[in-house]
Amino acid sequence: MKDIMTAPFVEEMKRTTANMYRLGWDERNGGNISYMLEEDEVAEYLDLDNVIREIPTGFDATELIGKIFIVTGTGKYFKNVEVDPETNLGIIRIAKDGTTAELLWGYKDGGKFTSELPAHLMSHMARLKKDPKNRVIMHTHPTYTLAMTHVHELSDKKFTHTIWEMCTECIVVFPDGIGVLPWMVCGNNDIGIATAKKMEEFRLVVWGLHGIYGAGKDMDETFGLIETVEKAAQLYMLTAHMPHVNTILDPELKAVAEAFGLEYRKDFLNL
Ligand code: 13P
Ligand code: ZN
Repeated sequence: MKDIMTAPFVEEMKRTTANMYRLGWDERNGGNISYMLEEDEVAEYLDLDNVIREIPTGFDATELIGKIFIVTGTGKYFKNVEVDPETNLGIIRIAKDGTTAELLWGYKDGGKFTSELPAHLMSHMARLKKDPKNRVIMHTHPTYTLAMTHVHELSDKKFTHTIWEMCTECIVVFPDGIGVLPWMVCGNNDIGIATAKKMEEFRLVVWGLHGIYGAGKDMDETFGLIETVEKAAQLYMLTAHMPHVNTILDPELKAVAEAFGLEYRKDFLNL
């Protein structure tokens, strides 16, 4: 059996959480990541028959029975994952009842998975229906995106439109746009259901006055989606109070989308 501390998926979780922490997105225990792993790759490092603990999830994830995820722990700080992955991360498998997580590794101090597990697993279910290659769900509190939710209308169309207008390549990176939820209580099934509903349409979901969710086939793609929104939100916050002398017009956004041959949310432009 290989040493799990050398596993590429543990490395990726360490690198990504450290990166996000240093960007100032994940203060204290802010943010959480879940990453679906292949059984074969996990079996190189762990005995899959050795269940350390069984932890109820409080919701039904029948569609994910047998699926294995590496997930950040609740109350754990992204800045600490790098130095102590075994305490701050866990590897769970969804048990046959669909409502229990079998702990295969991690949460060494008796901890458990993120309080946002409902939003994560429900989003995995929604995205897998759209794209069987989806593997990562990422939640974080990027500063400018969050600031923008304080001053900008929270509608899918208007929020997406403003972000697309900020830099030419936004529409290329997320032609499917951004879903936006109003402020809600976090860490429960209701916000999980609402997030997953948006994930049926979007790979990005903003939580008003809280943060953002991204979904993708790997860590780079998911992180790239979120950092592109954050960059655009930063431009918006730097310029919102100034006269906008130059803007990318809707026919120009259309021209970019067409030049790249993209299926995009035409109904989000005013043409
Ligand atoms: P957890 O510490 O439970 O992951 O919660 C952090 C967070 O960002 C809640 O939305
Ligand atoms: Zn959060």
